[in-house]
Amino acid sequence: MDVDDGTPTPAPRSRIDEPNTLHGVYTAEQARRGQGVFDQICSECHETADWTDPAFLERWEQASVFRLWHWIYGRMPHGNPGSLSREQVTDALAYIFELNGLPPGAAELGTDDDSLDDYWIFWSDPR
Ligand code: HEC
Repeated sequence: MDVDDGTPTPAPRSRIDEPNTLHGVYTAEQARRGQGVFDQICSECHETADWTDPAFLERWEQASVFRLWHWIYGRMPHGNPGSLSREQVTDALAYIFELNGLPPGAAELGTDDDSLDDYWIFWSDPR
């Protein structure tokens, strides 16, 4: 049973107040490698404009980086999923962030699930 002990209930934290892609979650070097992955693999089917498309951005706004990462890892390249390394997917995602003008930071985006689960996706600051 809940007992009101007088402690104020903290205001719920919005995702914008939590670590997210506006805070520099990848490095410029990582995005350069991601551009290489794009040129070598993704560009067979994609244009960079696919990843600045409003419908794409809206679909993933405020999703976790983990979810988009696993979406790509589990399904891409179309027809040959499972052929990308965790590094390739992470670098490609860094390139997608860069294409959208998200700021790079001092540390690379990690390739392990725990690191990927640290951040929400914001394409721009809603405030
Ligand atoms: C052989 C073709 C092919 C290649 C190569 C390919 N893709 Fe795709 N990709 C598709 C198709 C088709 C779709 C849309 C169908 C779907 O949703 O499964 C798609 C959709 C996507 C989406 C969109 C998700 C969304 O919500 O709209 C992302 C992101 C993506 N691909 C990333 C990549 C990355 C990164 C690479 C390179 C590492 C890559 N793809 C390589 C064919 C390809």
